[in-house]
Amino acid sequence: MKFEVKNNKVLVTGGAGFIGSNLIDILLENGNSVVCLDNFSTGNIQNLELAQSNANFTLIEGDIRDKDTCIQAVEGCDYVFHQAALGSVPRSIADPITSTAVNIMGFVNLLFAAKEAGVKRFIYAASSSTYGDHKALPKVEHVIGNALSPYAITKYVDELFAKNFSDIYGIETVGLRYFNVFGKRQDPNGGYAAVIPKFVSSLIKHQSPYINGDGTNSRDFTYIDNVIQANLLAAAVPSAIFKERMKEYQANTAGVPGINEGATISEVFNVAYGERTSLNELAAAIKEGLSNYDPAIAAISFQYGPNRPGDVAHSMASIDKGKTILGYVPQYSFQTGLKEACAWYWENLK
Ligand SMILES: NC(=O)c1ccc[n+]([C@@H]2O[C@H](COP(=O)([O-])OP(=O)(O)OC[C@H]3O[C@@H](n4cnc5c(N)ncnc54)[C@H](O)[C@@H]3O)[C@@H](O)[C@H]2O)c1
Repeated sequence: MKFEVKNNKVLVTGGAGFIGSNLIDILLENGNSVVCLDNFSTGNIQNLELAQSNANFTLIEGDIRDKDTCIQAVEGCDYVFHQAALGSVPRSIADPITSTAVNIMGFVNLLFAAKEAGVKRFIYAASSSTYGDHKALPKVEHVIGNALSPYAITKYVDELFAKNFSDIYGIETVGLRYFNVFGKRQDPNGGYAAVIPKFVSSLIKHQSPYINGDGTNSRDFTYIDNVIQANLLAAAVPSAIFKERMKEYQANTAGVPGINEGATISEVFNVAYGERTSLNELAAAIKEGLSNYDPAIAAISFQYGPNRPGDVAHSMASIDKGKTILGYVPQYSFQTGLKEACAWYWENLK
């Protein structure tokens, strides 16, 4: 059975950013009418070039910290894909107040607006940082540790609000805990850039990239197209089938809390590939990928420094829950995704 989001009206917040803009392009391709709400704090208008050529696209420049803006943006929408947030653990350590205001108050504004508007489902970007200091691998959704950063706290508080709104107001909510997403349009600039675009842009400039720690820390690097697939399925799987599959997952998985038959859907899912790659392996793979375009890159060495506060050592997801309930089957491995990403960065940064 194929479930799709087609010919609906949807709101994508943070749509000028990396993940949001990629999601918007596919939603438009599938015949949806898309409203994008973004304040361009970390997003870029260039990411919306394709979307802006589509008559079914509306851009609202505004801030999710403003409740009325959220109410206006969500009007008439069937689904909300809430991506807007201030990402980055170090950013949240440098300025916990702004990250908290955007990531928590902005989130509640949107959730409130969505339930007032009666949207069918509220899908939101959660985060693997919620696993915090819990050591077990792979990470399963119902076992989390203590948060290691203000950013991680904000993302976990969002999950609590989502569940609470589902219980109290009956709005369906689905949180997607993204694991180190990468791919086209991820911003390589600024002090808070993610590791893959940071390494890539340094290497293209023939600069030696900087690894935090000894390079043995590992992550479940997840290509953007897998993340888009998860978002679409999170919206499209009909409620009755979702609940049936929840029961199946619960019956086959030790420790999953029981579900109340009449409860409104409110679940979180890991969105990852389900493998882990160390930073040293990542560095070598990026060097190899870019050397196909510029052989001189093969000779560039990496620098090493201390671990960053707030970072977890290892991260890798179990994706069983998403597979069972959403039918999520990631199509891109780390290696195949990295090839695509290197090609895109080479075209756009060289
Ligand atoms: N990229 C990852 O690896 C990753 C991992 C886990 C979770 N996430 C989450 O996924 C979502 C999207 O991340 P991304 O990587 O695309 O980041 P991004 O910075 O590229 O996109 C975020 C977008 O939100 C917008 N935004 C920020 N504050 C806003 C505000 N107050 N009002 C309106 N718009 C605002 C920004 O301008 C930007 O366009 C975020 O919620 C992030 O926390 C990302």
